[in-house]
Amino acid sequence: MRIPFLVHAHEFPIPGSHPQPPLDIHCSWLLLSCSTVVSIRKHPDFATTGQWNAVTEAGGKQTSHVFDAVMVCSGNFSEPSLPLQCFPGIERFRGQYFHSRQYKHPDVFQGKRVLVVGMGNSGVDIAVEASRVAAKVMISTTRGAWLLSRVFEHGYPWDMILNTRLMSLIKTNLPGPLSWWLLNYKVNRWFNHANYGLQPENSWLVREPVLNDDLPSYILTGRITIKPGVKEFKDNSVVFHNCPEEEPIDIVVFCTGYTVSFPFLEESVVRVENKHASLYKYVFPPQLQKPTLAVLGLIKPLGAIMPVAEMQARWVSRVFKGLCQLPPQAVMEKEVNEKKKNQIQWFGLTFDEVLKTEWLVYLDTLASFIGAKPSVLGLLCTDPRLALTIFFGPCSPYQYRLEGPGRWQGARQAILTQWDRVLKPTRTRVPAGSSSSFLSLLTVVGLLLLLAAVIFGFL
Ligand SMILES: Cc1cc2nc3c(=O)[nH]c(=O)nc-3n(C[C@H](O)[C@H](O)[C@H](O)COP(=O)(O)OP(=O)(O)OC[C@H]3O[C@@H](n4cnc5c(N)ncnc54)[C@H](O)[C@@H]3O)c2cc1C
Ligand SMILES: NC(=O)c1ccc[n+]([C@@H]2O[C@H](COP(=O)([O-])OP(=O)(O)OC[C@H]3O[C@@H](n4cnc5c(N)ncnc54)[C@H](OP(=O)(O)O)[C@@H]3O)[C@@H](O)[C@H]2O)c1
Repeated sequence: MRIPFLVHAHEFPIPGSHPQPPLDIHCSWLLLSCSTVVSIRKHPDFATTGQWNAVTEAGGKQTSHVFDAVMVCSGNFSEPSLPLQCFPGIERFRGQYFHSRQYKHPDVFQGKRVLVVGMGNSGVDIAVEASRVAAKVMISTTRGAWLLSRVFEHGYPWDMILNTRLMSLIKTNLPGPLSWWLLNYKVNRWFNHANYGLQPENSWLVREPVLNDDLPSYILTGRITIKPGVKEFKDNSVVFHNCPEEEPIDIVVFCTGYTVSFPFLEESVVRVENKHASLYKYVFPPQLQKPTLAVLGLIKPLGAIMPVAEMQARWVSRVFKGLCQLPPQAVMEKEVNEKKKNQIQWFGLTFDEVLKTEWLVYLDTLASFIGAKPSVLGLLCTDPRLALTIFFGPCSPYQYRLEGPGRWQGARQAILTQWDRVLKPTRTRVPAGSSSSFLSLLTVVGLLLLLAAVIFGFL
């Protein structure tokens, strides 16, 4: 089968001493060269063959290809969104301004008064870097955001604590008001977001949290100031909403995110509206006669994108090979339209346009399509230690290599030893007198304490 990957697909090898898990994709031709894909159009025989005509360009030379199927992995952070029309007076502003995508080095901020517009992850990362050399740094945010520390409870990485099956069960089944209260309680335990000017405007709408360990201390020490939305720009200054005084500014960094687009595809194949592409399970255009085109990575659940893209690739490759069937078009379209609605739900919270899917639920759904979803109940009878580790512990991608296609012999061992590998890089000094058996005992006790912390941390 000839399948082009627009640059790369995610089938990551797992490092370590175990043999590597098998790849699900075997194709005779991969387009991995440094060519730009200019266009992808349905082949004239598409209705019967599902084939695509692709035109690529390299060194000024265009080449045509015919492919049996296409995986679009072109990412969603290529086209900056710079909505200057939302910022009155920007045309008269005499300072420098640019989009975060153009930012390369903090030297540009040396001794300057800097305004960062937008409090997504880019905005906060850039503000933190700028504040080490700039004279003054302000972040303007219209909505505020919840801030999470990478160093999460008890010093563990946040997603290893939050992205567990137990947590997912709690998150998806608690009534909305209770979820909202718990979320507020959890995120405000580090510091009170209202006191730092960060409290989200509409707490019912969960936007992508910002991951940054420095911002609270930089606010506390006055290196960064949080401001409301921009009302207007003047020649050398900015005026914020609800703030009477002008703030002198030298540089504005618009950290206003990205626009999703597929310039090489026809709109009839993938339509993007309001940063949302109409795709079944964020992957397949539902209206195609043949399911031979898939978009990978166009999803932002709260969790690592790599396992998600890997699972998408495993599912897609099986659909392409005819080993998995998609539901009828009407069923897929109904689901796509439901996703578009951003209605307030009683059970669970409402997520903004990019975060409508629970990370673990999405992974499980795709895994169930390919027969790779682990059965915790089944394992409880045959391998209780593994079952409990899977339920209470982090949902690492090895879980989806225990059974089904792409099964990997090393998966069980990898799951049972994942904490050792996570802690190895930081445990660089072992106190004298500690023996390996003591360490093993500590690991067991630590695991039990961690489980207890996970369970009781929410009470
Ligand atoms: C500033 C920034 C910091 C980030 N930091 C983190 C982080 O710390 N941790 C994290 O997990 N995520 C982070 N992310 C998100 C992460 O980068 C993305 O989730 C991830 O890169 C998505 O991978 P991808 O392969 O889908 O797309 P990309 O990595 O964007 O790769 C897409 C590729 O397709 C190529 N391409 C596009 N169009 C064409 C075409 N027509 N022809 C040929 N090639 C094309 C692009 O050049 C690009 O190389 C960050 C994002 C940004 C913008
Ligand atoms: N270290 C990391 O992990 C890291 C670093 C960078 C980026 N990323 C990822 O890359 C992706 C892009 O991040 P990003 O921060 O560039 O973009 P983003 O998350 O889309 O945030 C853009 C922000 O710009 C502001 N904005 C957008 N339109 C606006 C308008 N018309 N007027 C005023 N403000 C406007 C909003 O901020 P307000 O609501 O605050 O006003 C919005 O949240 C995200 O998924 C992010 O997680 C990750």
